[in-house]
Amino acid sequence: MTSSTTTRVLTGITTSGTPHLGNYVGAIRPAIAASRDPSQQSYYFLADYHALIKCHDPAMVHQSTLEVAATWLAFGLDTERALFYRQSDVPQIPELTWYLTCMAAKGLMNRSHAYKAAVQENADNGADADFGVTMGLFSYPILMAADILIFNAHRVPVGRDQIQHVEMARDIAQRFNHHYGDYFTLPEAVVDDQVAVLQGLDGRKMSKSYGNTIPLFDDEKKLRKKINKIKTNLLEPGQPKDPDDSALFQIWQAFATAQQCAQMRTAFADGIAWGEAKQQLFELVNSQLEEPRARYQELIAHPEQIEAVLQQGAERARAEAAPLLAKLRSAVGIRALG
Ligand code: TRP
Repeated sequence: MTSSTTTRVLTGITTSGTPHLGNYVGAIRPAIAASRDPSQQSYYFLADYHALIKCHDPAMVHQSTLEVAATWLAFGLDTERALFYRQSDVPQIPELTWYLTCMAAKGLMNRSHAYKAAVQENADNGADADFGVTMGLFSYPILMAADILIFNAHRVPVGRDQIQHVEMARDIAQRFNHHYGDYFTLPEAVVDDQVAVLQGLDGRKMSKSYGNTIPLFDDEKKLRKKINKIKTNLLEPGQPKDPDDSALFQIWQAFATAQQCAQMRTAFADGIAWGEAKQQLFELVNSQLEEPRARYQELIAHPEQIEAVLQQGAERARAEAAPLLAKLRSAVGIRALG
């Protein structure tokens, strides 16, 4: 139950891909840990409406929804405590999206990074500015605002690329409050600098769009293969290596204890062979993924169990969203005539 002293923390996961190590370290692990904090009520949801913005492959959207849900459950998210639901199961969200759409300035949307990046790419390619730009892409910060405001979330943990969207949610909420009355809490983006942004196989940020990811729940063999592909340099065994210039060490750090980090630093200084370092990294990562992997496979084999968990979450989410939405409808003038 939420009380007035509970901080509501909300974040969404777009269901357009297979979860990878970077998602785990950067989002899933900290979110699950935070959800155990008794002073916090977590709202974690599968942003499947958002997936449609980038992904027009229905099989992929569906499969990703399954995989993302199974991943969070496999890592032990306590769905009795946290509210875990699928966005499309909460009709109050798209309804609120419309009320907010009618309050959101077009000029604000023009400034959205995601939209501007698409326009820029078109300019670079000599294409029409609007080429490939859907209204979904253009106005998705409003959908995101509705995700956040429907539960009056206080805090929204996000990656740096999403800060702007949370600020837009604040702007839109402020405008709504100013015009119709004080209905919305102004949300704050939280970016945790302690949380690692994991490097990928090529040393750039691990990201689906760079094709440099290590999937979380591939079998052991594939995990080992991927880890062997992490980019290193030509230094030979016996030559000292610089941990601070190594994607391999950076991934090590994200899984290791302080003591294990210190040990690996020493091993680098002592010239550990890359092959050996990779072997150790595989063992470390694999030891932490083994159990969740087994649970994940079990869950994927029983999608109806996942569906049941999501349905329970959706019921709670709808019950919580409905009273605020009823007030908002009335506030904008949509109410019974007599
Ligand atoms: N747009 C976010 C992303 O791409 C996902 C998301 C959707 C989200 N709705 C949200 C995050 C609400 C925080 C709050 O990462």
